[in-house]
Parts: sequence; C-alpha cells; structure tokens
Amino acid sequence: MRKPYVYVTRKLPEETLDALSQAAHIKMWDSEDQAVPRDVLVKEAAEADALLVMLSDKIDEEILSLPFLKVVANVAVGYDNIDLHAAKKHGVTITNTPDVLTDTTADLVFALILASARRIVEAAEYVKSGKWNSWSPLLLAGTDVHHKRIGIVGMGRIGEAVAKRARGFDMEVLYHNRTRKLESEKNLGVIHAEFDELIEKADFVVNLAPLTPETQGMFGRDEFEKMKQSAIFINAGRGASVDETALVEALQNKQIAGAGLDVYEKEPVDSSHVLLSMPNVTALPHIGSSSVETRLAMAALAAANIEAVLEGKHAKTPVI
Ligand code: NAP
Ligand code: GLV
Ligand code: GLV
Repeated sequence: MRKPYVYVTRKLPEETLDALSQAAHIKMWDSEDQAVPRDVLVKEAAEADALLVMLSDKIDEEILSLPFLKVVANVAVGYDNIDLHAAKKHGVTITNTPDVLTDTTADLVFALILASARRIVEAAEYVKSGKWNSWSPLLLAGTDVHHKRIGIVGMGRIGEAVAKRARGFDMEVLYHNRTRKLESEKNLGVIHAEFDELIEKADFVVNLAPLTPETQGMFGRDEFEKMKQSAIFINAGRGASVDETALVEALQNKQIAGAGLDVYEKEPVDSSHVLLSMPNVTALPHIGSSSVETRLAMAALAAANIEAVLEGKHAKTPVI
C-alpha cells in the first residue's frame, strides 16, 4: 500500500514531525520565512493525503476538491484562511490549534496594552538613539493601565486569559460576546456589555473575535467615533475586523488616543502604510503566539491531528 503523503507548507523543526514521519512520507516547503507559492501548493496538494498549513496559506475549493486530500491541519487557532463550506462539501477534515497558544497570546496582548499605554517602543528607541539628555518630569509620559477599564470583544479562550491578567492589574473588565458567560462573570468578576456600551466606556478596547462575515469591518468610523478620546484600541484578532482607513482617520483626528496592532487587513503590512508612521501606534508582525515553546506545540498538535485522521481516528482538535 502507498504510504500517505503529507505536504508541509513551511520549514518546521524536524523533531515536531518525528512521530508523523513513521506513518507518512513528508515533504516540506524549504523556507522558514517565505510562504509557499500558490502554484507549488496546488501541485503538491494534488498528490497529498494531508496538508499541514499556515494561516498565510489560502485553502480554497480548488485545493479542497483535490482527489486524495483527507485533512488540512492549520497551525493557528483562527481558520478564516480556510473555506469550511468547501471542506464540508468535499469531506475534508479541518483542524486548528486551540488552547496550546492561549496564555502565550494573552501575554502578547497584555504586552501590547502596556507598550501602547506606557509608550515603551517610543521610549526604548529614544534611549537607543541617544536622545536622552536629561530626566524630566513628563518625559515620554504615558497613561496608566492599572485601575482602568478594559473592554474585550470576543471573550473566548484568549479573551478570558487576558481578563485574568487585567484583573491582576486591578482593572474593571467589560466583555462582549454573542452569548453571555455566567460562569466567567462569577469566577473572574467580568461584566457583560452590549457592543456599543463596551466601546463607549472602555479605556482599552481589545478585539479578540475570530474573523467571520459578522465581525468583518466591525470596527469602523462609527465605532471609533463612539470610543473615548483617551481610548487605546488593541487588535489581536484579525485585521479585516477593522476598517483601517477609519482607524487612521480616528487617530489623525484624535478621536482615539492610540492603537496597538498585531494583525492587519493585508499581511505582511506594507512598509509605507500610514499606520506605521504614527508614534501612537504600536505595530507588531502577527506574533501573538510566537514563543518557541508555543509555536513548537502548535506544529506538534497539527502533526498529531494529521496522524490521527490518516489512521482513521478522530482528529484531536477538529474544526469540522
Ligand atoms: P474562541 O475561544 O473561539 O473565542 C472567540 C470568542 O469570540 C468566542 O467567545 C465568541 O463568543 C466570540 N465571538 C464570535 N463571534 C462574535 C461576534 N460576532 N461578536 C462578538 N463576539 C464574537 O477563540 P480563541 O482561541 O480565543 O481565539 C480568538 C481569535 O483570536 C482567533 O480566531 C484568531 O483570529 C485570534 N488569534 C490571534 C492570534 C495572534 O497571533 N494575534 C493568536 C491566536 C488567536 P460567541 O460565539 O458567544 O459570540
Ligand atoms: C493566530 O493568529 C492564530 O489564529 O493562531
Ligand atoms: C522615579 O524613578 C522615582 O524615584 O520617582
């Protein structure tokens, strides 16, 4: 019998694939930092029983309808890069990497909150560029985080982990989901709010909702207008939940005070994007889950999902 063929769209440390390589023939795209070209992906997928893919790979019907494909394992918890409707139609299992990245991503969200509020990036550049000539009382003065009000839109696994950290900073926590979480309200002391109420009241508005037709463009001109002038907007969900033109205008018109961004409408973000030239924008290159430990755990979980499906078992963390 032919050994199953698994194509991996980015170079991963060999040890994460050790177990899977017993059961399957594995080939990897030979680059750590460049995405696989579309034509190579399609050609490989045509032979593959399984694909281990990154959030930067668009997995659409052209790929999902290929004859041998049984499972696509995304190395991410978000799966907006994958056409679930086509996957269902063609009977392809889709898996993601929940839980293993929750705390690491929540740490990064908190780092963005602190960096934006306390002007950490600006301040570090100030010292390193030799501009620090004297101590002065309001030098690079930011705004406090402790005892402020955070509003979390998309209070799932990561949102709750951010809420825990926020409570440690004595913050009041508002959250907005479509469904209330009474357990979390009791255990974490968080307060459910309607979306409009949350964005009007929060000092830090944090987006951690998945990208869906419902959340696409959810933060636009009207929403930024409703926010406090002192508000800092943090996006670690997905870029397309935000109308970036409206965000730029809100920052330019001082409708809000600043932004901390890990995700963008188009990634990688263009180096000439006006957001990157604003001192009150802290911009990161989509590194929410990027600790070595967590990225390896995500790759290992994706490999374990493929192994399970190829052995005819249930995937460990299926999306569908
Ligand atoms: P999760 O546990 O599924 O949480 C998502 C939450 O969003 C759920 O509580 C859901 O509650 C809420 N939600 C869904 N649709 C909504 C809507 N229309 N309005 C308001 N809330 C909505 O997922 P997670 O593991 O926390 O991950 C969340 C997202 O973070 C991922 O999908 C991904 O896009 C992003 N992420 C980014 C990074 C990064 O590197 N920056 C890393 C990991 C994850 P209801 O269903 O009740 O509305
Ligand atoms: C990263 O953005 C993820 O969805 O895991
Ligand atoms: C600052 O360093 C202080 O001592 O207040």
